Amino acid sequence: MVRILKTVKGLSCYLQQRRCAPSVAGAEPLSVGLVPTMGNLHRGHQSLIDRARRENELVVVSIFINPIQFSAAEDLATYPQTPGEDLALCQQAGVDAIFLPTTAELYGSIDPDRQQITRVMPPPAMLTVLCGPHRPGHFEGVATVVTKLLSLVNPQRTYLGAKDAQQLAILRQVAADLKLPGELVACPTVRDWDGLALSSRNRYLSPEQRNQAAHLYQSLKAAQTLFKAGERHGHTLTAAVERHLGQVPTLTLEYVDLVHPHSLKVLDSVESIGLLGVAAYLGKTRLIDNVVLRNRKPIVAIDGPAGAGKSTVARQVAQRLNLIYLDSGAMYRAIAWKALDLGLDPADEVAMAELVQSCDLRLAATTDDPAWAAYPSRLWLNGQEVTELIRHPAVTERVSTVAAQPMVRQTLLNQQRQYGITGGVVMEGRDIGTQVFPEAELKIFLTASVEERARRRWSDLQVQQQPKGSLEELEQAIATRDYQDSTRRVAPLRKAEDALELNTDGVEIEAVVDQIVTWFQAKVGS
Ligand code: PAF
Repeated sequence: MVRILKTVKGLSCYLQQRRCAPSVAGAEPLSVGLVPTMGNLHRGHQSLIDRARRENELVVVSIFINPIQFSAAEDLATYPQTPGEDLALCQQAGVDAIFLPTTAELYGSIDPDRQQITRVMPPPAMLTVLCGPHRPGHFEGVATVVTKLLSLVNPQRTYLGAKDAQQLAILRQVAADLKLPGELVACPTVRDWDGLALSSRNRYLSPEQRNQAAHLYQSLKAAQTLFKAGERHGHTLTAAVERHLGQVPTLTLEYVDLVHPHSLKVLDSVESIGLLGVAAYLGKTRLIDNVVLRNRKPIVAIDGPAGAGKSTVARQVAQRLNLIYLDSGAMYRAIAWKALDLGLDPADEVAMAELVQSCDLRLAATTDDPAWAAYPSRLWLNGQEVTELIRHPAVTERVSTVAAQPMVRQTLLNQQRQYGITGGVVMEGRDIGTQVFPEAELKIFLTASVEERARRRWSDLQVQQQPKGSLEELEQAIATRDYQDSTRRVAPLRKAEDALELNTDGVEIEAVVDQIVTWFQAKVGS
């Protein structure tokens, strides 16, 4: 049953109560995912809600038509409202609460002209491109309301659609600059059968306009085809969009811009990444869309439970495909090693949060230097090589406690993402396909039964002449680890929706690698 909350007090009371719901002494408060919307929910919103549902214990959807993000000439008065349908969609999607405030509740009622509202001003440079010059005041209104919602809800994660690329980039910057709580999660644009990006404003279109609206995406695809063929010049790519749309007389182009997707700086050419954004009118309806152009080598993400053989497989796949294997786990080991070195308690969340901020990590493949071939990756911490040091059993013992610290996770996640800018890597872990590289060309979920993994571990321990206990004890330990990994609050082990699952029970390593290479060639080409 969805709880509808119309007041700020009601919302904070509800969150306080529910967050601490598992009233077991010492239990962690529940994680909250926020989906901010203006209502009239469609499949695009639903994809945000579904993702929030998968990744959080509590899901809050806010429905608020924010007047201060509309200019006088815009459609505030007629913005579509479908409260009954919205409620049904939220109910079906398992939303816990809908925050449905009035304008007076959120902004106060004494100021009918809204001149006395405190506002959040995004970086002015980010307002000079795309929709910025055409919608004065819009992003200030968006930044203001989202800042307010984030400070009221204090979510672990906030879900936003990639269709509103400028909104996303601005909110990321505002959230970073104002140190707003939680992570902003960008979700892919959901499109109709003909490529039209879903939007509440699509319902303004007549059937004929609706048919023509797909040209927006087709024009971007035309530019993308040129890009894939090697074209990198900004003016040639934007001209391709203009040329396509020029053939649709009923469509009035407002802008087409090529910018960097994070800084929104205008690009003369695409070095590593570019965002091609377009806005056009069909009658009175204004539509926007964008595509991201990536000039990088492919990425392979391999996730799976402990003992499924990920690192051996990932290394061999990288060798076969001439990509670089990077062992993301080594980064967590480095923090655990440093904590040990400084005598810090790995379970001390604050100490670990401070420690990770002071660590500059550099990860490199071992393929260039045979002397390091025995190690999965080479690693430097603040300039010191720690490749061997981080393999010490005392580090192994502490690494999962360190890796479960939210701040460690968040900081290293950002660093790992840097390796994706140029691509050409195979990375394995628990959240590579879901969190680190959700845009990876190939995602593999490598599994094996508990019994098989216990058997492999048992033989490894035997070879290493280490104490191994009984097979049943090992099975029990692996099952417990699986449970902990998949239920932990920070970066739980999950199969990405578009990952290909490979069960390695009774399959030789070579066959597993062959299968992944075949999938790679089918998806990416050789
Ligand atoms: O994208 C939207 O629907 C709105 O701009 C948002 C983020 C809910 C703020 O009002």
